[in-house]
Amino acid sequence: MKTGRLLPHPIPYQGSKRGLTQRILPLFPRGKVRLFEPFAGSAAVSIAACANDMVSRVVLSDANEPLMELWKRITCNPYELISAYKHLWDAQLGKERLYYNQIRDEFNQNHNPDFLLYLLARCVKASVRYNSRGEFNQSPDNRRKGAKPETIAKHILGASRLLKDITNVRHGDFREAIIDANPEDIIYLAPPYQGVCNRRDNRYFEGLPFGEFVAALRDMNRRRLSFIISYDGRTGEKTYGNMLPDELNLRHIEVEAGISSQGTLLGRNASTVESLYISPALLKRIDSSRIDKSQPVRQAQLSFL
Ligand SMILES: C[S@@+](CC[C@H](N)C(=O)[O-])C[C@H]1O[C@@H](n2cnc3c(N)ncnc32)[C@H](O)[C@@H]1O
Repeated sequence: MKTGRLLPHPIPYQGSKRGLTQRILPLFPRGKVRLFEPFAGSAAVSIAACANDMVSRVVLSDANEPLMELWKRITCNPYELISAYKHLWDAQLGKERLYYNQIRDEFNQNHNPDFLLYLLARCVKASVRYNSRGEFNQSPDNRRKGAKPETIAKHILGASRLLKDITNVRHGDFREAIIDANPEDIIYLAPPYQGVCNRRDNRYFEGLPFGEFVAALRDMNRRRLSFIISYDGRTGEKTYGNMLPDELNLRHIEVEAGISSQGTLLGRNASTVESLYISPALLKRIDSSRIDKSQPVRQAQLSFL
């Protein structure tokens, strides 16, 4: 199975599930399915599922519109995006900090997805931050210039090859994104974390109140949809967020997610355990040995690079 660093990862994104794909893919039913990823971010699960030939179609969606415009560029116009990134990257040399601030100001006016890629490649820990007016306000990481154009080009082309003919890109609320999902499909949900920050969550365009999320899951169960959720977890002894309620009949498992990036940001180095929840309809489609397989797997030796 090809997972993790063996796969293209064109959009640097804090909260990416790239490190968890080896635990998530074994939970897919056999045969090729249509996959919905309505909290797409860096689309780590869709890329991994395509690379392992597990999907017939992919629906990628996220509330962050410029991010989804970037996914359209990756899937439909990868060479234009590569050349735009190279132009931005070269133009910054010798005036990196000033240039970053200028592009960030322009991005907040025009929402140009090429600018978003440059900002994500250059900002602190690839972690998006928005102010109360919805403006991108993350600072640059002044020790780095951002991924070199030739490196990002390989990732963009790798992802584009996997996704281009089978992917539909949308933007908006996750409930809209899955409106046409049916019981044959599989849905992977990675909503914003509840825990970690108690104040308004400036990591995302939109937050997601716990009660609203639970109500949506109740409706998805009523529609007999097959879904997997990554939702909070714990670092050492510290648990983040509420567990999803028993009334949803979800199977809860915990998987090792390595050192938490949020923990690192907060100056702690504790290993993180992430909670995965499997819907009752999906449990009926997979045998229980698949859940045991949601364990570390030996990486294939091939790399896409
Ligand atoms: C934890 S990140 C997803 C990470 C992603 N799975 C990856 O591998 O990179 C959560 C995402 O949810 C999006 N989001 C927040 N509220 C949303 C909503 N109500 N509907 C759809 N997307 C939302 C954010 O823009 C963010 O990209």
